[in-house]
Amino acid sequence: MVMTVAIDGPAAAGKSTIAKEVAKRLGYVYIDTGAMYRCVTLLALKKGIDPKDEKAVETLIPEIQIDMKPNHVIFLNGEDVSEAIRTREVADNVSYVASYKKIRLFLVEIQRKLAQNVSIVMDGRDIGTYVLPNANVKIFQIATVETRAQRRYKENLEKGISCSLEDIKEELEKRDYIDSHRSFAPLSKAEDAIEIDTSFMTINEVVSEVIRIVHNKMENING
Ligand code: DC
Repeated sequence: MVMTVAIDGPAAAGKSTIAKEVAKRLGYVYIDTGAMYRCVTLLALKKGIDPKDEKAVETLIPEIQIDMKPNHVIFLNGEDVSEAIRTREVADNVSYVASYKKIRLFLVEIQRKLAQNVSIVMDGRDIGTYVLPNANVKIFQIATVETRAQRRYKENLEKGISCSLEDIKEELEKRDYIDSHRSFAPLSKAEDAIEIDTSFMTINEVVSEVIRIVHNKMENING
């Protein structure tokens, strides 16, 4: 049986960590849609295009070729950009790029194609509401902004990236504001999504909870 699991929520709520692990344990394909918006942002920055200039960013569409490899490596126009899309500069600009309707329509088409005829876990902001409105399971993963900033801060330190906790908190709040206030497919919880507040949960607890929800759903479908 083909199952689709949508995981949405604000920035740095741990969606990709959970989605990756759930996909691994269930043998599903994992698709990180945020990485696609990050690729477009990176391309704009590389070409000297202002990410706030919608018309200029749209001109990039014909030259965007994104390949998501099974081992979570992301190629943009033949180049491995898995690390390059995680920089502060990309994070600071991606919400503008993700608010442009033409960019969204272009990437959503790719996302829907990737989800055809295969069991997947897809994470993002509008997966349950817009990309895959018929997903079998919809999770809305949240955590307080303090918890999210702390987790990102720790992650950065582990990677040797120096940063301030206050700066991270500000970046997350700014991104969440833009992502939830854009006019087209904003970040929002689907009516039929199950909310999981991960603030005081371990990764393993969240993963087990999502898998329990998926198994329940499969039993319901099978009757
Ligand atoms: O999940 P992330 O932090 O890598 O996402 C980067 C940005 O892309 C985020 O600020 C919002 C945007 N995004 C989106 O608008 N829709 C998605 N489905 C995924 C991400």
